Amino acid sequence: MKRVITYGTFDLLHYGHINLLRRAKELGDYLIVGLSTDEFNWNEKKKKCYFTYEQRKQLLESVRYVDLVIPECAWDQKRKDVHEYHVDTFVMGDDWKGQFDFLEEEGAEVVYLPRTPEISTTRIKKDLNK
Ligand code: CTP
Repeated sequence: MKRVITYGTFDLLHYGHINLLRRAKELGDYLIVGLSTDEFNWNEKKKKCYFTYEQRKQLLESVRYVDLVIPECAWDQKRKDVHEYHVDTFVMGDDWKGQFDFLEEEGAEVVYLPRTPEISTTRIKKDLNK
């Protein structure tokens, strides 16, 4: 069984997220999502989520492509996760291109998928604020 992992905040789940999750799942048989906790988002990314971690987790668990949601609490947990979850392939959108190539040292294939154009959580928030 080929295991794939991806990470992100996935706030205000949108079709760009779904496209990413669908293509990630197509790269294997079992998709794990490392979902940024509210604390990690705030402390490390200066992002305040609209939905709480539990709400975002529930949404992701309802997506047919997602098999398991785990918390992302720190930048450096990825090396450990690759081994703990027996990950074959690490996937991110190409806004992160090159930033996680070091995971190849841990034996994971690293793939950056093209982002879906013109949609992001930031954009939704901005547009609704107009
Ligand atoms: N993603 C994507 N296409 C989009 C938006 C996001 O492929 N249009 C991917 C990102 O590259 C990442 C994952 O979805 O691999 C989770 O991204 P996240 O940062 O949670 O979503 P954004 O909409 O980019 O959120 P923000 O605007 O807060 O950065």
